[in-house]
Amino acid sequence: MHKHLTALLVITFLVGFAVASDRPERQDLTPKDLERVRAVTAPTTDFSASEKFEQLPAGATTNRKLVNRDAFSAFSQNLSFEDQSRFALGNGFFRKVWVASPSSTQSSDGLGPLFNARGCQNCHLKDGRGHPPMGADDDGVSMFLRLSVPAHTEAEQALLASGEQNVIPEPTYGTQLQNFAVTGLRAEGQMAISYTDLPVTLGDGTIVTLREPKYSVTDLAYGPLADDVLLSPRVAPQMIGLGLIETIPAEDILAQADPDDADGNGISGRPNWVKALETGEIMLGRFGWKAGAPTVRTQSAEAFAGDIGLSTPLVGKPYGDCTEVQAECLALPHGEQARLGVSEAPDPVLDLVTHYSQNLAVPQRRDIDDPAVLRGKQAFYESGCIACHTPKYVTSREAPNKAHQFQLIWPYADFLLHDMGEGLADLRPEAQASGYEWRTPPLWGIGLTQTVSGHTLLLHDGRARNLTEAILWHGGEAQQARDTFANLPATARDDLLAFLESL
Ligand code: HEC
Ligand code: HEC
Repeated sequence: MHKHLTALLVITFLVGFAVASDRPERQDLTPKDLERVRAVTAPTTDFSASEKFEQLPAGATTNRKLVNRDAFSAFSQNLSFEDQSRFALGNGFFRKVWVASPSSTQSSDGLGPLFNARGCQNCHLKDGRGHPPMGADDDGVSMFLRLSVPAHTEAEQALLASGEQNVIPEPTYGTQLQNFAVTGLRAEGQMAISYTDLPVTLGDGTIVTLREPKYSVTDLAYGPLADDVLLSPRVAPQMIGLGLIETIPAEDILAQADPDDADGNGISGRPNWVKALETGEIMLGRFGWKAGAPTVRTQSAEAFAGDIGLSTPLVGKPYGDCTEVQAECLALPHGEQARLGVSEAPDPVLDLVTHYSQNLAVPQRRDIDDPAVLRGKQAFYESGCIACHTPKYVTSREAPNKAHQFQLIWPYADFLLHDMGEGLADLRPEAQASGYEWRTPPLWGIGLTQTVSGHTLLLHDGRARNLTEAILWHGGEAQQARDTFANLPATARDDLLAFLESL
């Protein structure tokens, strides 16, 4: 019996090992270039000075202009003239405020009937991140609750297993709580948050008080939510560097996956697999807090439908997230007109908004040779942060946009899913992501959150009020890194924060 078990374990180990070493390599490079790329992307061990090219975290696309409120709104600096004008047109649609149908401005109507905001920019404020409601007059527009229910039937299980759908929608309210509606229709309800103080003591006795959120829904207009409803709060993420993230070869992300923790470092890392609406293909998820979307175009089309209530060539839902049960919503006029193209946001619009979203440039680093920043960089590496916050990649030589090809980039993320523990869990699965898992977000630009967004609220629901709180919320696979940080002397913690502020 024991012998059998041992044999089985050895076989499992060997199979696991074989899979790990048989992983496909990226196909866009010659063996010699692949070797060069491996050498430049290996984490540094020399913290005595900054690294070559570290000043430009997004390679030739990096925004080298002044650091101010518009720091996230510049286009990739190596964009062709033609693409610069497409970026400007896309910017117009990203900022556009949509109105309800019917309207005299027929090319801007189609809003809702249910919606979370009237335009992309209302949530992705200044192309930076959103935030939970701040004060009584704030309607919390840049954050929303995702909704779903567990699969109940075999057919529903099959929909999830095939990757056809990421979730099973809540039967009445759909996949998202819309807190606004056009005139004459009731909004679905309002998100309510209450915070409880959660004091934690660091190694040197310093007490930091975290705020633990609880979410609920008030003013439900269409009856009760399903008993087993699953809620997931999400703030709008910053919009920089997305085209580069899209062109990191999937092989380089998958090479970091370690679902069974074969290397025994307590950190697994799993890919999400989700459907690209443009091709129907199941692909590696890269965007959203749980990597629920594989491409910028799919994510943008879903935003048009779910957040604003507009149909696009990829998501033909002029009624947005309104369900069959919401008859009053379905009875309202929508903005689709054959004359203007079939969708409410017909193809030049989705194309241009996608192009815009792919080309918001990452700002250059600051203070990279400051001794505190260099010491903090070393602490970041040595505390185990880079096990998930992977420093560097070289993007694909075959990226469809020339500006994104073969760039050395420094996003500080593996873009994989990690179990982050009870504290951060939303308990709402999304495609392959469990209710405990979140995608490692990129850290580039994080030091400019205050400058661009006017606040320092971090994590998927903006619960962390600063960098220290964000780190102290890390649990699960990141528990050890979090504890290492918490036990550093105060000066070393400050250095680590100085490094993050320089990103
Ligand atoms: C109501 C607020 C809201 C509106 C309006 C909105 N977004 Fe978002 N956006 C979000 C949230 C929240 C997420 C994170 C979603 C998730 O985790 O699933 C997000 C994620 C994204 C991402 C992925 C970013 C990343 O780093 O992973 C892109 C791209 C994006 N939105 C584009 C758009 C576009 C284009 C529009 C307009 C058509 C738009 N958004 C409108 C809230 C909004
Ligand atoms: C096991 C993987 C893992 C490790 C190790 C890890 N992180 Fe993270 N980090 C994440 C994930 C996943 C999130 C997003 C969690 C969320 O939003 O709920 C995150 C979020 C963050 C954020 C907030 C980002 C944002 O956009 O809001 C900061 C800052 C951060 N990490 C810093 C660190 C530091 C510093 C360390 C080392 C002490 C560290 N992380 C170690 C996975 C990890």
